[in-house]
Amino acid sequence: MPESNHGTFADRRRTVLITGASAGIGAALARVYAVEGWDLILTARRAGPLEVLAAELSRSGATVTVITEDLADPAAPQRLFEAVAARSLTVDALVNNAGFSRTAGFLQTDPADHAAMLQVMLSAPVELSRLFAPGMVERGFGRILNVASLAGRMPATGGDTLYGPIKSFLIKASQGLHLELAGTGVHVTALCPGYTLTEFHDVNGTRAEVSSAYPAWMWQTAEHVARVGYDAVEANRPAVTPGVMNNVLAGLAKHLPDRWALKMVGGHAKRLKRI
Ligand SMILES: NC(=O)c1ccc[n+]([C@@H]2O[C@H](COP(=O)([O-])OP(=O)(O)OC[C@H]3O[C@@H](n4cnc5c(N)ncnc54)[C@H](OP(=O)(O)O)[C@@H]3O)[C@@H](O)[C@H]2O)c1
Repeated sequence: MPESNHGTFADRRRTVLITGASAGIGAALARVYAVEGWDLILTARRAGPLEVLAAELSRSGATVTVITEDLADPAAPQRLFEAVAARSLTVDALVNNAGFSRTAGFLQTDPADHAAMLQVMLSAPVELSRLFAPGMVERGFGRILNVASLAGRMPATGGDTLYGPIKSFLIKASQGLHLELAGTGVHVTALCPGYTLTEFHDVNGTRAEVSSAYPAWMWQTAEHVARVGYDAVEANRPAVTPGVMNNVLAGLAKHLPDRWALKMVGGHAKRLKRI
């Protein structure tokens, strides 16, 4: 592990900080960044999977730093920023990926879980961007990749009531920052995956329902989603949705009258027995 990665790009490799890197899309993104020649700072709550991934990526030549953090704690973004500074590391790319959902319904979900969802997927990406973007602008190079969701492009649904609105916020916030930072060398992109094979549906306890409700062709691999996200932020696209079908669904939702679109999504929630 180096003492510092400060310096000009001519004499150092670039470094990406990825939240939620212990599993799924975050781990897949870490592998893509490593293949593309980046060093990495990996963060999540579970040290074990982060250390295993760090060992794997180190073997391919990347310098990897692990910092465990619970982003549900409102103090976590500032702590993470300070932990990076204390190691004299420079963050050239920030990937806001950590996330989860609760599907029991608004009134049935523990308010602490709602607060954690808002903190991890909405406040933490905002705060981490506010902390790391100024340095990127100053250096004239940066990347911010926000992992949102197809759900953020669809009408809100029942059961996981807050999830879609949180992801819509992240898409809009990414678009705004994309415009604001145009010309600074800092690219900002929202990645909007549809159903992706990760631990996500095991964590929210819906694996059986979603597997029987949706055929295999509707599912994408984390590796595919990660590659699409990496390429999109490098190309400075404001937002990207992997998969033709996912784009068709989002297009339908956008062009249908609101009440029809809501009915379409309500049918989805009923099929999953969430409402
Ligand atoms: N899978 C899908 O179908 C899908 C579709 C669209 C969008 N997404 C989005 O993609 C992102 C990644 O999800 P995934 O599918 O890869 O799910 P996953 O396999 O469950 O991974 C979620 C990651 O988030 C981390 N995380 C969760 N809560 C955290 C907390 N309080 N503090 C820090 N890290 C936390 C987890 O790490 P620890 O448990 O170790 O903390 C894990 O690394 C999420 O934002 C999700 O909303 C997923």
